[in-house]
Amino acid sequence: MNREATFLLIYGGRIIDPSQGIDQVGDILIVEGSIAQAGSPIIQRPSFSAMLGKAQQLDATGLVVCPGFVDLHCHLREPGFEDKETIATGTKAAATGGFTTVCCMANTEPPLDTAAAIDQMRQRIDKDSLVAVLPVGCVTKGRKGKELTVMAGLAEAGVIAFSDDGDPVASSQIMRHAMSYSRSLGLPVIDHCEDKALSGGGIINEGRISTETGLKGIPAAAEEVMVARDLILAKMTEARVHIAHVSTKGSVELIRRAKEEGISVTAEATPHHLTLTEESIIDEARNKSFDTNAKVNPPLRTEADIEALIKGLGNGVIDAIATDHAPHAVGDKSCDLKSAAFGISGFETAFGCLMGLVHQGEISLVRLLSKLTCEPAKVIGREGELGTLKAGVLANVTILDPDREWIVNTRDFASKGKNTPYDGVKLRGKVMATIADGKIVYVDGSLPSSATSLERKRI
Ligand code: DOR
Repeated sequence: MNREATFLLIYGGRIIDPSQGIDQVGDILIVEGSIAQAGSPIIQRPSFSAMLGKAQQLDATGLVVCPGFVDLHCHLREPGFEDKETIATGTKAAATGGFTTVCCMANTEPPLDTAAAIDQMRQRIDKDSLVAVLPVGCVTKGRKGKELTVMAGLAEAGVIAFSDDGDPVASSQIMRHAMSYSRSLGLPVIDHCEDKALSGGGIINEGRISTETGLKGIPAAAEEVMVARDLILAKMTEARVHIAHVSTKGSVELIRRAKEEGISVTAEATPHHLTLTEESIIDEARNKSFDTNAKVNPPLRTEADIEALIKGLGNGVIDAIATDHAPHAVGDKSCDLKSAAFGISGFETAFGCLMGLVHQGEISLVRLLSKLTCEPAKVIGREGELGTLKAGVLANVTILDPDREWIVNTRDFASKGKNTPYDGVKLRGKVMATIADGKIVYVDGSLPSSATSLERKRI
């Protein structure tokens, strides 16, 4: 589908690669799909002049060039829910959002709970994917929480972690065993922390809005009780646990203390939990009706929670930002709030909404990029290979305009999931081009054609 660029030169951009401490204006040369050099300007060097004559060129002047984003958490829905998303549409949306590697959760139908299911998934990925997809395998058979999967078989089939995400592993005994096995396999368990006895039937955050509207709330404790349990079990088993979509101040504090104690825990926060509060559920524009697109699990919380999450990004308690891209079909959301599905389609707005935090001075651009590149790579033990522009690695590169203003329009989404509370919102910060595995997989339509010598129709 995409022609491999034998030589591709990205020149004149501000190269930020937190994995190597690079932040300088310069050039990147990609040869046969791998990074040959990233950093100081090479465009003038006589030794390269013969090669550069043959290179496709991309003018990144005024733009930021960084390693391709790594997403630890997304839902591609295939197999089983192709009305919501497919591997083809989901990875196109990922490329549009600057992601070159995405880890897909196992809540498909059938779930990814056997080596055979992973093998089939890999065949679909090889056929349809525009970016690298790393599958997560289930902790329990059928994600039912009753019986462990054959975790060694899943590991052998190539899963990068185990998770029943979408649901927690309710039984502490099963989680204990899952952690023990995952430790011996050298892979993390990713847990969706939710005590269903506390959250049961809840649809929004338990707080001011739930009190005012009478809608059933999900208390912070529903998450925190499970985070605490997982940390205790991780200590007991010496396993590596990764806490998915952290949403509360209390969870951040628990993880902070566990890290201080030396427990092997990592954590992620989503763009929506870092930027939106429970207020988003009220659709001001539509006569204060409820916005089902802001219904997500865990729910959007409060300013105090956002503050703690941002602080956690700064001090390392929150290792990575992960989208939890959860696309749904129109019918899953065009209904009353109680019946609506949980989830936000997140790939295509992630960078734009996170840049809001940079523009507000909450976090530096370099730190933000580290949370989207080398830090998530570390969580899955792929540092030095993913989320880096080191010479020799496969070329995964994202080109950004941190100041470009644009208005989100879900009709333009590559994702089938149009479910986002950001629809119609003006963002400042846009992905301009994405190079995955040495191939250009996305170029923003607004990039002047003079900026690239590429034939657009091939992209
Ligand atoms: O909002 C959510 N949607 N949270 C999850 O944990 C699962 C996800 C989904 O699969 O739709």
